[in-house]
Order: sequence, then structure tokens, then C-alpha cells
Amino acid sequence: MVKIGILGVGTVGTSVAKILEENAELLEARAGKKIVVKSGVVKNLSKDRGLKITITDNPLDVVNDPEIDIVVELMGGVKEPFELVKKALANGKAVVTANKALLAYHRYELEVLAGDIPLMYEASTAGGIPIISALRNGLSANNIDSIQGIMNGTCNYMLTNMINHGAKYDEILKKSQELGYAEADPTFDVGGFDASHKLLILASIAYGIDAKPEDILIEGIENITATDVAFAREFGYEIKSLGIAKKVGNGVELRVHATMIPKESMIAKVDGVMNAITVIGDKVGETMYYGAGAGGDATASAVISDIVDIVRGNTNPMLGYKQALKNKLTLLSKDEISTNYYLRLEVNDESGVLAAITNTLSKFEISIESMLQQPHPAEERAKLLFTTHECKEKKMKEAITVLSKLDVVHGEIAMMRIEK
Ligand code: HSE
Repeated sequence: MVKIGILGVGTVGTSVAKILEENAELLEARAGKKIVVKSGVVKNLSKDRGLKITITDNPLDVVNDPEIDIVVELMGGVKEPFELVKKALANGKAVVTANKALLAYHRYELEVLAGDIPLMYEASTAGGIPIISALRNGLSANNIDSIQGIMNGTCNYMLTNMINHGAKYDEILKKSQELGYAEADPTFDVGGFDASHKLLILASIAYGIDAKPEDILIEGIENITATDVAFAREFGYEIKSLGIAKKVGNGVELRVHATMIPKESMIAKVDGVMNAITVIGDKVGETMYYGAGAGGDATASAVISDIVDIVRGNTNPMLGYKQALKNKLTLLSKDEISTNYYLRLEVNDESGVLAAITNTLSKFEISIESMLQQPHPAEERAKLLFTTHECKEKKMKEAITVLSKLDVVHGEIAMMRIEK
């Protein structure tokens, strides 16, 4: 019999305990041993969770319990779980965690500390979708060309409702909190940080990239306007908040931002709170993974898959291929990112303005792909909307700085990246 201790019996922890009980026979057949939850840790002892397990408010009761074989960490936060996971590993216990923030900051330290002790984290990224297993096992024959996906359900739910139903940003954010999609602090979702943690985890498995959130480009969905949405539609794009990891030579781009993508692409069709990730391998080509990125049972499904793997003895090195990479890949700086861009400017509607703008773009060797002008007769101003051919982020940022200083340009220049 294998005994589990759960640090943090909230929505996901309760689902884990319930599913282990409900599907006990099936799981015993699949894992080869009976799996039982011995105890769980909560902050508030007075709340009844309807579970037949020992409940304590002291995490050390679990991590120091010699009878517990696997510690499941579902606490959230970084500092306290880091200390507890280290202690559990030091006590020789296997660990399963759903904690993406913990891994975004400490995955390489934990990899060293874990050594041969299993430390698994399928639930940390895209909830119930087995994307970690796909990268570690199913795609292990491939060099990974790119990973691109909707890694935050809250952003996708909000964007879908803003774009398809004209929902207002604040109202739809509130609704996604009420529905339980958003993190406790929703700026984590809309600001792109939640997705960045997941992207860093995937990039470690695929590329061995040891980066922290502050090292990569992270932008939220806060500045998207109805004009951008209308333009995207007219030019055949959808707007999605994507996590993108892309191998370019011996470098890797890592970025999270609102992105225009062709409306016929598979990811463009993923609506609502669902997550979807495409991985392109050099041998297999494009593969896609779709499913619930959050929610008690979906996340518990991923947690339990790790438990079953550990019980079966199916574990492999925590972060996969790092040691084996011959030409070590390095993270490209934010300036080196190369992509297509969309620009929105408000300008004086008078002769020579368009020439001044296109002149500036050409000074930075930025080539325009398409353009739309929307006049605003009342104010004798116009909106200029451009898409560009591929160029370096550095040139684009410099061009925007110069453009925004022109007398004929008013207000902030909006920019969105485009993935073809
Ligand atoms: N808040 C996250 C989301 C939940 O909206 O996708 C899972 O990380």
C-alpha cells in the first residue's frame, strides 16, 4: 500500500482525495498497488471537507510522517512550499506538486535536491492536459522547434467574451473570478505571469533553459481595444494571449503576450476557459493538446497521473534532457525576438503624415505588409493601422520611440505581435 499526504486540501486537494477513493479499484489495477490518502494539511481546521482522512494544520505532521510515501504539494505560494518540498525530499519522500510558481523559480535547485527521488509536476502546467508527459515521453525523439499555446484560461475566457460578445474588460474579469477561473490575485492571469510560469516549465523540458520570469518578455491583455479587435478580424486574425517558446538557431525565444494569429489556425479556434498547446517537433511535425487548464477534478487528474507513475516506478529525470544537450541552447534577449508586428497610431489627418510615418519605419528597415486608415472627421485625426513584415523587437521598439515623438502623432502607439 502507498500512503499519500496532501499539503493544502483546497479544491484540487479535495478532488485528489475523492478521486483516489472513488476510483480506488481502477487505480490499484493501473498502479499495481493500493493508494490511500493518509492525511492532509489545511489552514482552517473547522471547515468540513467531507473526507475520511486525518486533517492537521501542521505541514510537518505530513512531511515528517515516516508512514507517508508521497507528499502532494497543492499549497500555492513559493517560500513555504519550497521549504516543505525540500524537507519532504530530504526525508526521502517522493513529491508531486501542482505549484507552477515554485517551479518557475526553484526547479533547477529542486532537480539537484531530488536526485533519484521522484519529483513530478504534471498539474503545474495546463491543468488536466498531459503536456509534461507528452514532452518528456511522447515527443522524446524530437528536437522541439516550438511550443505555442493558450496557457491561461482566464485570459482566453476574457478575450473570447470581449471579441465574440463585446464584453467589457472589468465585467468579464469579475465574472471569471466568480466562476473560479482566475488566480487569487487576477493580475497574475491578465498580466501574463501565470502563463509565463507554465512556459518556463515547458521550456526547461524541451530546451534545458534555466530562466526566471523576470528574464523573459511578459505582457498582459490589459491594453487591447475594440479597434484592434476589428482590425484583426478584417485582416483574418484572432487575438489570443499566447505563451511562445521557439528555437532559433542555438537560441530560444520565450515570451508571453497578446498575439494576432491567423483565424484558420487550430489555436485560434480554442474559445472560453480551455487551454491548448501546439508543439512542433522536427520529426513528428505539429501536434496539439487541448483540454481543461484549471478546475478541481481536471487538475486532480494530472496530480493522480503523477502518483500512478511514481507507484509504477515510471519516473525519469525531473527536467529531462538538460545534461544531454550537446549544443547548449541559450535564452535570446527580449531585443533579439523577431516577429511580425501590428501598430496602431492616432495621427493628424493631413498631407505628408503617412509619408513621415513610413519614412521613420523605413529608417529602421521595417517593411510594411498592410495598412488601414480610419478617418475621424470630427477631430481631423485618423487612426493608422499597420502590419509589418518580420523584424527585430529592438528595431520596432526604437521606431515606436521615434514615431511617438513626431508632432503629428498623438497619444500612445499600440503594438501587438503577430504569429503567422
Ligand atoms: N488561473 C489559471 C488559469 C488557473 O486561468 O488558467 C490554472 O493555472
